Amino acid sequence: MKPIQFYLAEDTIDKKDVDQLIDWLKTYPRLTKDKLTVQFQDKWSQWLGTKYSMFCNSGSSANLLMYYVLQLSGRLKNKKVIVPSVGWVTSVSPAIQLGYEPIMCEADPDTFGLDLNHLEALLKEHNPSTVLMVQVLGVPHKMDEMMALKEKYGFFLLEDACAAIGASYRGKKVGTFGDMASFSAYFGHQFSTIEGGLVSTDDKQFNDLLQMNRNHGWAKDLDAETQKAYTQKYGIDDFHSPFVFYHPGFNVRSTDLQAFIGLGQVDKLDWIVSRRQENHARYKKHFEGKLYFQKYDAESTICSISFGALAKDNDQRRKIVSSLVENGVETRIFSAGNLGLHPFWYERYGKASFPMADRIHHCGFFLPNNPSLKVEDIDFISGVVLEAM
Ligand SMILES: Cc1ncc(COP(=O)(O)O)c(C=O)c1O
Repeated sequence: MKPIQFYLAEDTIDKKDVDQLIDWLKTYPRLTKDKLTVQFQDKWSQWLGTKYSMFCNSGSSANLLMYYVLQLSGRLKNKKVIVPSVGWVTSVSPAIQLGYEPIMCEADPDTFGLDLNHLEALLKEHNPSTVLMVQVLGVPHKMDEMMALKEKYGFFLLEDACAAIGASYRGKKVGTFGDMASFSAYFGHQFSTIEGGLVSTDDKQFNDLLQMNRNHGWAKDLDAETQKAYTQKYGIDDFHSPFVFYHPGFNVRSTDLQAFIGLGQVDKLDWIVSRRQENHARYKKHFEGKLYFQKYDAESTICSISFGALAKDNDQRRKIVSSLVENGVETRIFSAGNLGLHPFWYERYGKASFPMADRIHHCGFFLPNNPSLKVEDIDFISGVVLEAM
């Protein structure tokens, strides 16, 4: 067995970024959350095309805050939420932690996002206030159809784009479709702030609640006018006002050190997107008609962090995986497979088994897609898979 030569995750914080960070550190700046966090939030909103963004310590915290502020907003008619079978545990776990009633949905056979027929059946049956969708692995979901369902059934859409930074659907960036959208800046994702997460929204009430509940539930992070409205409403004097808690909040903030890194990552995001898209297209060319993988609209931009594929059965996956490992190519299951087959879910609600999500669970695997990969690397990795098949 060869040592690993192609890793699934590589750091997008490169030598230049580290050198710039060292130079900045030598100015002895404030490191905890301060002005750079605000600058990073603004720069990210600008890149994405939304009004507001909130930077916190992980994509999981971003999801937690989306669910939490939706609940605090007083705009939910009920606590039912449709959740995906293919995504991440923290796409679903805040719903459990915060007392929502999660209902699990099958995966779409093309994009592996929410199956739209199953989703519509669940919307008719349960009339939920909320749908959480995942933009699976940087392959945009069928957003025209999704938004038509939102229009027809009137739910809040939480868009988990944690593993989809930089992708777009027919020219519109992923993360601009939901009432709120989350992003992860963990190592190995499209870009990194070591650990980190963002929520973006065009809704001022949601953004104010996000800013407040990221740290403690105070009003300090709001604009001056909104802070004043709070102090006046509750009759708070100037001496007390910085330390008045309006909501039972969390502390899931990040730091200005990580915001500094984030500012540099946004600068090179367009390059990262084009590299990952080129790699993805090369894998697609090799596997077209031979291997099952996520399909996408021709007008969409893909920004995958791994190339996800399905073997024809579990036995074939075993062969492909051992051949990849023997040839020094790191691999793993497809995301988390079907979340409905994990103990955290079935010990509460019973197993949620669906044909497509189960197939992803039992036959799915990942291939590396990092900006540093060269054409010959993709050709080599693809050759290992095709040979094993
Ligand atoms: C779809 C999705 N949501 C949420 C997360 C959580 O992000 P983080 O690792 O930053 O907490 C991940 C992590 O991979 C993810 O893939």
